[in-house]
Amino acid sequence: MCGIVGYLGKNEKKEILLDGLQELEYRGYDSAGIAVIEGDKLNNFKAIGKLENLREKTKAYHTEGFGISIGHTRWATHGKPTELNAHPHLGAYSYVVHNGIIENYQELKTELQADGVNFLSQTDTETIVHLFEKEHKSSDSVFAAFEKTLSKLDGAYATLLITEADPDTIYFAKHGSPMLVGFNGDDVYFASSDTPIIGKATEVYYLEDGEYGYAKEGVLKLFDANGEKSFTKQALTADKVSAQKEGYRFFMEKEIYEQSSVMGDTMMGRVLDDTINFEELDKDFFENIYAIKICACGTSYHSALASSYLFERIGKMRCDVEIASEFRYKEPFLTEKTLFITISQSGETADTLEALKMAKRAGMRTLSICNVDNSSIVRESDAAILTRAGIEKGVASTKAFATQSMVLWMLALYVGQTKNTISQELIKNEIDAMIHTPKALIVTDKLHEKVHRLSKRYLHGHGFFFIGRDIFFPLALEGALKLKEISYMHAEGYPAGEMKHGPIALADSELFTIALMPKSMHYDKIKSNVEELSARDATICAISPLPFDLADDFIQTNYDSHPMLEYFEMMVVTQLLALEISVRLGNDVDMPRNLAKSVTVE
Ligand code: G6P
Repeated sequence: MCGIVGYLGKNEKKEILLDGLQELEYRGYDSAGIAVIEGDKLNNFKAIGKLENLREKTKAYHTEGFGISIGHTRWATHGKPTELNAHPHLGAYSYVVHNGIIENYQELKTELQADGVNFLSQTDTETIVHLFEKEHKSSDSVFAAFEKTLSKLDGAYATLLITEADPDTIYFAKHGSPMLVGFNGDDVYFASSDTPIIGKATEVYYLEDGEYGYAKEGVLKLFDANGEKSFTKQALTADKVSAQKEGYRFFMEKEIYEQSSVMGDTMMGRVLDDTINFEELDKDFFENIYAIKICACGTSYHSALASSYLFERIGKMRCDVEIASEFRYKEPFLTEKTLFITISQSGETADTLEALKMAKRAGMRTLSICNVDNSSIVRESDAAILTRAGIEKGVASTKAFATQSMVLWMLALYVGQTKNTISQELIKNEIDAMIHTPKALIVTDKLHEKVHRLSKRYLHGHGFFFIGRDIFFPLALEGALKLKEISYMHAEGYPAGEMKHGPIALADSELFTIALMPKSMHYDKIKSNVEELSARDATICAISPLPFDLADDFIQTNYDSHPMLEYFEMMVVTQLLALEISVRLGNDVDMPRNLAKSVTVE
């Protein structure tokens, strides 16, 4: 959520900033802006909406020689997506970009306003730059003023500041939101994730919380609460695996199609002939662990919820799942005998990261399941299992969810295997099914065409209910989330057996029910739940390997032998349905309104 880039050096700064922001745009696209200082020349551009608007606006602008520069792409938290609210924010002679939230900004703003400062925006960020300029008046140096400013900020942030008072230096700080520094010779880069600097910087340092400092040509000074500190750079890959659409209309579409092949990567070296192997986990990782608690947000929460059925049924271990933002403030009762798992595509979700920190403070063993190596959540956890889905760009998560579900299924089996609570025969059966997963995820032309044709009947109505039982209930939640994220229509996921306890009151022909009816799991039970809805004239779209007479629309699936294979196949159908409905409605599939790929604010 929001993206930051910074560059200090002699290369064309505008292009470096815009290219970097392009890589981050999926994180927030309400507005974007850049600020550049070259000697005494200061330039600042902002545009609302997508980055192409900023590109257009800066077409005639070019930079020359040494300079310092910062850029930002925004997902609005404080104030509307307007140009005034876009970053970089300007003081009298300084600019700042910021990710995260300054929690005490209102207090600071009131003080500054009492001193006569005029605020242009509604953002929390603008307080940073005014506070800095205020501190600068009474400080010996720019750095001292920057340090004093940081000491007054509460909340989570990553920030870059440039000022005409020191036109060859970029000031930076990280506290709760991700930021890294890239190096190439004397050039210094900053970014909120590594994709903008891959191919540009050769080495990188991932800043830790509480670190701050400044960069000049060829020099980076790093500090924390204990003063100046040394740091070790790591080599940065030059391989720009930057996701391209490769002929697909949308990243989301490409990512749906990719699921079959990335699943092979997810399983590689982990699903063996008759055993599950996680090199990431020490042999005694589950020693003295008798329960599992999982925290996550959004789509990741749904994969967690599905896995709770598997941990109990296959792994024979108690498992409960909580939405991270709820967990944080409920004063949870935590014990050291419970393994704390976080699931996150990005590894940067603020609520999940904070939940993880709470668990660590409580002395719990922690494991993260994540798609981004070196992300904050991975670095913070005792152990991490990467989902290996590759870069996911579509804001509506698809392949990340699929690979999370797979890792969790493997982990459930691993727990049973390690704890010796399950038979070799069960392990073998599960592994046989796992091996078939990539096939169950293949999108055939026939299926896609069918979903495309059928989607035209679902562009209106007063809402969707996705229903399922057992692991198909979390899958229903995820199907509904996909649909609402990109179609903007109301959709809910519900446990099929619970419809009769209230929601069935909504049933009429304009209520669309997407029924997940697997053959291998509680078929007769869900069938009677769907019949109850059909009797009330609800429009039924059934997804099942078994023909269902009462369905208004029917999508026949192929797998019927194992619930997880049915799960994955039905997952693809619900993803395609959301995609096709959204396309027909003319929405921006990859960058749906109001959303962001990575939510680094609470
Ligand atoms: C955002 C995204 C969702 C995602 C959620 C959790 O809201 O738009 O797609 O599921 O964050 O993200 P994470 O990276 O922690 O899985």
